[in-house]
Amino acid sequence: MSKKNKKTLQEIHDYWVHQSQPDHYIDKVKRSEFLTEYVKKYILKTGKILEIGCNVGRNLNHLYENGFKQLTGIEISENAITALKKTYPLLEKNSEIIHSSIEETIKQLPTHHFDLVFTMAVLEHIHPDSEWIFEDIARITGSYLITIEAEKAEHWRLYPRNYKNIFEKYGLQQVEENRCDKESGLGAYTLRIFKRQSNMGGEL
Ligand SMILES: C[S@@+](CC[C@H](N)C(=O)[O-])C[C@H]1O[C@@H](n2cnc3c(N)ncnc32)[C@H](O)[C@@H]1O
Repeated sequence: MSKKNKKTLQEIHDYWVHQSQPDHYIDKVKRSEFLTEYVKKYILKTGKILEIGCNVGRNLNHLYENGFKQLTGIEISENAITALKKTYPLLEKNSEIIHSSIEETIKQLPTHHFDLVFTMAVLEHIHPDSEWIFEDIARITGSYLITIEAEKAEHWRLYPRNYKNIFEKYGLQQVEENRCDKESGLGAYTLRIFKRQSNMGGEL
């Protein structure tokens, strides 16, 4: 990437604060169906689940409708959260939605707190100056981490990385990897499932 195209962390955050386009994410239900099948395979309905970068909350709502009730979302964009409240009022009432960047909040989240942490098309946008959050994502993961990210694409707001290499450094082991199918609308993404070595509750 040329120097000209390199953005600062602030510019990347500002982009998401102002351009989160919640309408664009509401109808991508096939992506949520794809994710939910994997969540059902590994996590009990009583498990605590966190989505980082939940936008309008379509993934969380799909999990909610499938019986997962202990849900938390973190989202940097106020517009996206306003749209979440309007689109999925039951989800909003019965879950914890945190309006914050992940950078601002993650240090306050307890170690091994969530049975599942997941991201879909979010880590790929994390600026190189914020890569310190990856160790904290592993720290707050009690049992499983799912990443569904574009790992090769390069663009002014896309940072290619191999998440197996990253999270295996921090005490998680990859247990499943899948090139996502085109039908789910996730054709350019890689799904990885990581497991913490010593398990806590909330998983199957
Ligand atoms: C490409 S969208 C994906 C949304 C959702 N995960 C989905 O699959 O429908 C990326 C989302 O991550 C949010 N985001 C980006 N950087 C973030 C950060 N540093 N902290 C919290 N949220 C962030 C954006 O505002 C946006 O809603």
